Amino acid sequence: MATPPSLLIQDSRTRRVFDVPIHNGTIRAMDLRQIKEGPDDFGMMTYDPAFQNTASCRSAITYIDGDKGILRYRGYPIEQLAEQCSFLEVAYLLLEGELPTQAHLAHWRDEVTHHTMLHETTKKFLEGFRYDAHPMAMFISTVAALSSVYDDARNVLDPAARRRQVLRLIGKVPTIAAYTYRHSLGLPYVYPDNDLSYTANFMNMLWKMVEPRYVAHPALTKALDILFILHADHEQNCSTNVMRSVGSSQADPFVSVAAAAAALSGPLHGGANEEVLKMLAVIGSKDNVPAYVKQVKEGHGKLMGFGHRVYKNFDPRARIIKWAAEQVFEVTGPNRMQEVALELERIALNDEYFIQRKLYPNVDFYSGIMYQAMGFQPELFTVLFAIPRTVGWLAQWQEMIVDPEQKIARPRQVYTGAPEREFVPIEMRTLVTSAAR
Ligand code: CMC
Repeated sequence: MATPPSLLIQDSRTRRVFDVPIHNGTIRAMDLRQIKEGPDDFGMMTYDPAFQNTASCRSAITYIDGDKGILRYRGYPIEQLAEQCSFLEVAYLLLEGELPTQAHLAHWRDEVTHHTMLHETTKKFLEGFRYDAHPMAMFISTVAALSSVYDDARNVLDPAARRRQVLRLIGKVPTIAAYTYRHSLGLPYVYPDNDLSYTANFMNMLWKMVEPRYVAHPALTKALDILFILHADHEQNCSTNVMRSVGSSQADPFVSVAAAAAALSGPLHGGANEEVLKMLAVIGSKDNVPAYVKQVKEGHGKLMGFGHRVYKNFDPRARIIKWAAEQVFEVTGPNRMQEVALELERIALNDEYFIQRKLYPNVDFYSGIMYQAMGFQPELFTVLFAIPRTVGWLAQWQEMIVDPEQKIARPRQVYTGAPEREFVPIEMRTLVTSAAR
């Protein structure tokens, strides 16, 4: 029988050699604790700011190969899911582990649509926001506020209670998102219409005026479905890590999703799609692209919608979005920013700075111009990301809650502050500047 693989580590301080087992190409950080200089030593830790090389969990949900540009949900290539499935079908896959049969899908759809309404007090809660509040700020706060409506949400160890909250969240996030938009325009809220598909209902809640129902172009509901599928999960990204981390304290899923959405709102994560549009507006025209790229290379800002921690070749989602955007533009006519975006992509992809650093357009680069062409306001873009990602956050949360290896998330630190020092009573203190320290 072959010997199990291991890593031999020699500690030059003590000359001792340690044999650390390797599983799935990783060593357990806790196995390093035995490496000590002496009995009082706490033991060896790894230092990994921003988790660039740390696996925080074992997960069977999403697979990414960043070098090859591969993304799969539960083993299925994202390209096939985007082309052939509806968003709710993919949501079922992510949460339940298998693609649904027709009967399962019909039941699942029925279950989700039974939870699309908001409690009237939640509607009133939304009314308290200023007219110019950012939709993402309203979304985060309102999702958190749902925790006050559903008392059973705290029973996170009860599988039936967990499932109820999962359905409530998937059903309600489009309603909350649409209400934030209607609120910012001072328009009355539109109640959900459960005869419509998930995306068509969302568009109806956003854009219905006095007509009985807003009828979205089928190509646009399909495009939105594709975008939702592409955004549904992306393994241990910043917001999912927050979802797992907050959820690990057994906080309820409403506040955990709100915390994850807060992480998503940052411009380096889901907020990037709104920033791309702002950037394209600043650039203004195709002719200004070279000067803008030069500025970025000189250290003034970043190309928003470029670069990724994991994808170092191409982002497969960006490819699908580029294709879907073309279908949208056939219906809506071209977005005036499309020309600037294409030129920016062309110049960046041929520039040594971006080639060397492996910076490619990511999912947010094209989603913004596509959303804009479909009639969504830039302020709503990150909310459009949060709706489908709620499914991924919940799938990851469910997996974490039942994983016997998981405990409350609690990293260590390397302390760099002052050693123990004598306390000085306030009347005896002199001003010490941080520089003097
Ligand atoms: N424009 C210009 N330079 C960049 C960019 C960019 N968009 N991204 C990274 N770099 C440079 C960075 O300055 C660094 O250069 P140097 O080695 O000279 O210091 C090098 O590339 C490596 O970058 P990094 O910051 O170490 O990479 P990271 O893995 O920590 O960050 C990222 C990944 C996505 C946060 C970053 O690429 C970025 O800020 N991109 C722009 C924002 C964006 O589009 N975010 C959406 C990401 S995809 C969807 C999502 O996660 O929600």
